[in-house]
Amino acid sequence: MISASAHPNVALIKYWGKSHDALRIPATPSLSMPLLAFRTETSIEVARKRDEVILSGQEDKSGRIANWLRTLRGDLGLDMPPLTVRSSSNFPSAAGLASSASGFAALTLAINALLDLDLDMPSLSRLARLGSASAARSVSTGFIALDGRENTHTAWSAQKVLDYDAWPLGVCVAICSHTPKAVSSAAGMNRSRDTSPAYNAWLTGNRQMFERTVNAVTARDFEALASAARWSFFGMLTVMQSSVPPLNYFNESTCAVIQAIKTLQDQGVPVFFTCDAGPHVKCVHLPEYAALVEARIRAVPGVLEAIQACP
Ligand code: PMV
Repeated sequence: MISASAHPNVALIKYWGKSHDALRIPATPSLSMPLLAFRTETSIEVARKRDEVILSGQEDKSGRIANWLRTLRGDLGLDMPPLTVRSSSNFPSAAGLASSASGFAALTLAINALLDLDLDMPSLSRLARLGSASAARSVSTGFIALDGRENTHTAWSAQKVLDYDAWPLGVCVAICSHTPKAVSSAAGMNRSRDTSPAYNAWLTGNRQMFERTVNAVTARDFEALASAARWSFFGMLTVMQSSVPPLNYFNESTCAVIQAIKTLQDQGVPVFFTCDAGPHVKCVHLPEYAALVEARIRAVPGVLEAIQACP
């Protein structure tokens, strides 16, 4: 039996929309940092007859991982026996905390070890991307960029921009619900691509912000990072809200946490917020403000938990 683990990540520059559905090629580049306190552990072993996937002790009925394994064997020609996969995470899944990112990344790392593939990070990230695009950014830790210039499988891979330890920013996560989301991110982003009048402007602007953010991370410039992340978050939100019918992943507590963070910003605290396709709020801050940010989030009515996910 082989085991591997991976952390989910939070995109500071988001991707929302694909340019190729089957290959899961994002329509814009993205840049993330890891959520180190959250982890998915995955073990695999060779099965007798067919793939068997057990997630948190339950057989996976969605078929998502089994389909991905078929793609690896079929389209990519990987010589892989049937597998028994067992995976579990220490954080709420399917509610916007990117369990698919850490799940596909951990499984990719386990397969790499089982089959002695010895793949480098870009190759690992491409395999994980075929399961879930954000998983490409979870095959390693650090500030990770997922980018590609052409619309091909090989062009789109992840690269490390900076080690996390070189800029150990804090991230406090406000858990605002334990309910699984009603619209998956895959369905939501296709709806946005097909119906939102703001979609094309989002694609152009987000690429510009991505390039700025790579520079901000390399220079460890918190203000520049906060400003680009704000643009990307509100850009994605505009596209979600202008989709037909509109997409809403937030609840009242999400909005209350955002308000609390805006108040901290008005007081000069170096913190910014971002959310994904779910109600939780990820609050990124300079490390010395961890206790203050956590206490403020904890005091917001309706917040179920405030978890320091980094460092
Ligand atoms: O690839 P998915 O299905 O995990 O989609 C991720 C979408 C966002 O989390 C909203 C943005 C991102 O870049 O992670």
